[in-house]
Amino acid sequence: MKSEDKFIGYSETDAIRIQAERSDFREHSVPLYLTSSFVFDDAEQARALFADEAQGNIYTRFSNPNTSEFIQKLCLLEGTEDGIATASGMAAMYISMASLLKTGDHVLASRSVFGSTHQIFNVIFPRVGISHTYVDLNSPETWEQNILLNTKMIFVETPSNPALDIIDLEWLGKLANKHKLILNVDNCFASPYLQNPARWGAHIITHSATKAIDGQGRVIGGAVLGTKELIKEVRFFSRHTGPSMSPFNAWILSKSLETLAVRMERHCANALQLATYLENHSEVVKVKYPFLVSHPQHVLAKKQMRHGGSIVTFEIKGGIDRGRAFLNSLKMISHSANLGDTRTIATHPASTTHSKLTEVERAAVGITAGLIRISVGLEEIKDIIADIEQAIGVSKS
Ligand SMILES: Cc1ncc(COP(=O)(O)O)c(C=O)c1O
Repeated sequence: MKSEDKFIGYSETDAIRIQAERSDFREHSVPLYLTSSFVFDDAEQARALFADEAQGNIYTRFSNPNTSEFIQKLCLLEGTEDGIATASGMAAMYISMASLLKTGDHVLASRSVFGSTHQIFNVIFPRVGISHTYVDLNSPETWEQNILLNTKMIFVETPSNPALDIIDLEWLGKLANKHKLILNVDNCFASPYLQNPARWGAHIITHSATKAIDGQGRVIGGAVLGTKELIKEVRFFSRHTGPSMSPFNAWILSKSLETLAVRMERHCANALQLATYLENHSEVVKVKYPFLVSHPQHVLAKKQMRHGGSIVTFEIKGGIDRGRAFLNSLKMISHSANLGDTRTIATHPASTTHSKLTEVERAAVGITAGLIRISVGLEEIKDIIADIEQAIGVSKS
């Protein structure tokens, strides 16, 4: 397969050049439209806009030039027809499901999903009678038998956070279509630059824009993208429940998309070098990175991803105590709960992002007590490796 065959959407030029209509001030860079509402030319225009007979901005909870620009770019990058911007990645996850499901529906979900997505499935949806069955990304043969008469949606993260497990999106797209299910893919870990789930049949693509899309650790945001028909429902839900993105965040995030490709190239090159270094380290027990040959789904990763991503996970000899000592010994690398930043970040998923899961639930998705997640940044790789090397050394003594 040629590299470009993996993508239906991505154009680096589109990501740089698409822009909200230029104003009479002839600005080169897009202005920030900090306005709650928009004025009507006359009473007839107001009526027509509210009646959906005319297109245009009414109120920023519904749409705004900055959020529209951001979404227009994302749709082109992901190869989707339509989309909406949300206040956070979790708002995107929640409304992409809550707007398309109702009491009595069932979701087939990969067990390996972000901690808060687990809370939606385990605690929030059961209150309104939406059930789920978890299936393992590593056992696709069990998925079809878990589809019930009331199953409406398949929800997956691939690669998953933080286990970095991968599922065959082409196979999943066919499974969803065979059973007339909505395939919803959280594409946050890959970003639109590395993977286009719509290429393989996904109907909905969800993003935490807080991660690689911002890429500089500044704002929270999200997006739901997909077919016109499905996004119409999501838009109705969002317009009336209000999880919309602020114009300021959209302005930042749209600008960030202009540099996504060049940032991801460096993130991925650094991550592969770090993963290779860790794999050859005598104090490291286990390393996972999608483009390492040792990754169990390495061939699949190469089929559907451009590069392996910015996340590397590993475990040092000595378990949790050594892991803690390692984190406390880092000098340059930040100890924080974010990822996809220019700055390299180390996280301990068991005590932070996935702490609300039980130990058994964590074990089922490969989150061991000693697992460390590194979001590899854009610093010079020699400096990233030097900090990790010294912290491994200090944590041993
Ligand atoms: C895979 C994945 N999905 C969703 C989210 C939630 O995104 P946000 O923090 O923007 O709400 C995260 C956050 O880490 C994530 O890693």
